[in-house]
Amino acid sequence: MSQVCEVATKTQNTALNETQKAVLSGLSTQQKTLEPKYFYDQLGSQLFEKITKTPEYYPTRTERSILSKNAHAIAKACGKDNIVIEPGCGSCEKIRLLLNELHPSLYVPMDISGEFLAASAARLAQEYPWLKIQPVTDDFSHGRIIPMDLPSGQRTVFYPGSTIGNMTPHQAKKFLTELRQELAVGDALLLGVDLIKSEAVLNAAYNDKEGVTEQFNLNILNHINALTGSDFLVENFKHYAFYNASLQRIEMHLESLCDHKVRLAGQEIEFSQKETIHTENSYKYSLDSIRAMAEDAGFRCQQSWADEEQLFCVSLLTSVED
Ligand code: AVI
Repeated sequence: MSQVCEVATKTQNTALNETQKAVLSGLSTQQKTLEPKYFYDQLGSQLFEKITKTPEYYPTRTERSILSKNAHAIAKACGKDNIVIEPGCGSCEKIRLLLNELHPSLYVPMDISGEFLAASAARLAQEYPWLKIQPVTDDFSHGRIIPMDLPSGQRTVFYPGSTIGNMTPHQAKKFLTELRQELAVGDALLLGVDLIKSEAVLNAAYNDKEGVTEQFNLNILNHINALTGSDFLVENFKHYAFYNASLQRIEMHLESLCDHKVRLAGQEIEFSQKETIHTENSYKYSLDSIRAMAEDAGFRCQQSWADEEQLFCVSLLTSVED
C-alpha cells in the first residue's frame, strides 16, 4: 500500500516541460510525428550544410545559380535602395549574391540565434562596408514576422531556400497572409521555391548515396533525447523518404525496425515493427501553384526566374490592394 502511494506521488511531481509535452503529443497520434524544427541542433545544422553539398541535393546550388545569373534583373524588378528583410537568414550567404545589384538602403537579417547572427552580420559588414545592417534576433513567437522599429521605405522580404516547402499549404497560406498584412501595397517578397519534377530526381535528393540525409533524419532522435531525457535508440530506426505524388511532397519518416518501447518523461511509447515517425514534409510547387498561393494571400506573382531544367525557381511576389 505504502509503495503504491509513493509511486502516485512521484508521478504527480513529475511536471512535464513544454518540449516534453509537445513531443509526447506528436508521438501520441495515430501517425506519430516529430516537428522538423527538432532537426536543428548543432550537429543537425552541420548535417544540413553537408546535405546541400551532396551531388543529389540540387536545390541549394540551383537557387544560388539562379540568384547570381539573374541578380541584375531581380534588382531591377524589386527596385533598388529598398529595405531588405531576411527572416531566418542563417549565415547570410544567399543575400551576398544580390547585394551589389539590390544595393539596399538597409539590410535586416533575422535569426533565432543571437550569437550566430551577430557573427554573420559582422562578417557581412566587413565585406560590404557601404551596407547599413540592423540585425534582429527573433523567433517570430510574438506573432509578427517583420520588426516594428524599421525606418519607413519600400520593403523587399527575402525568403530563399524553399523553406516555405516545409510548411503545409495551410501554414504557407497563413504565413503569407500574415506577412502581406505587415507590408504596404507594392512591397515585395522574393521567394525561393522547389519545383515539381521527376520522381527519380526528387527521391534521389532525399536519399543521397553517402547517407547524409539518413544521418540528418536519425539525428533528430538524439536531439529529442537531449531535450526531453527520452531513451530513443537510433539503431532501432531507419531512414525512409519518398515522393508522395498525390500530395506533391517529399515525406521523411523514421521506420521502426522492431517492436519496442521508448520512455519519455515517465511515459512509455510503443512502436511496432515498420511503424513510422513522420519527421518532415517538403512540398513542391508548379509555377501555376505558386501563382495561386500568392493570390490567395494577397500577392501578385510578378515574375519568376528558374534554371534551364526548371528544377527550382525564385519568384517575385508583390503585395496588392485588398
Ligand atoms: C530546409 N528545407 C528546405 C530542406 C528541404 O529540402 O525540405 C530540409 C531537408 N530535409 C532533407 N533534406 C533537406
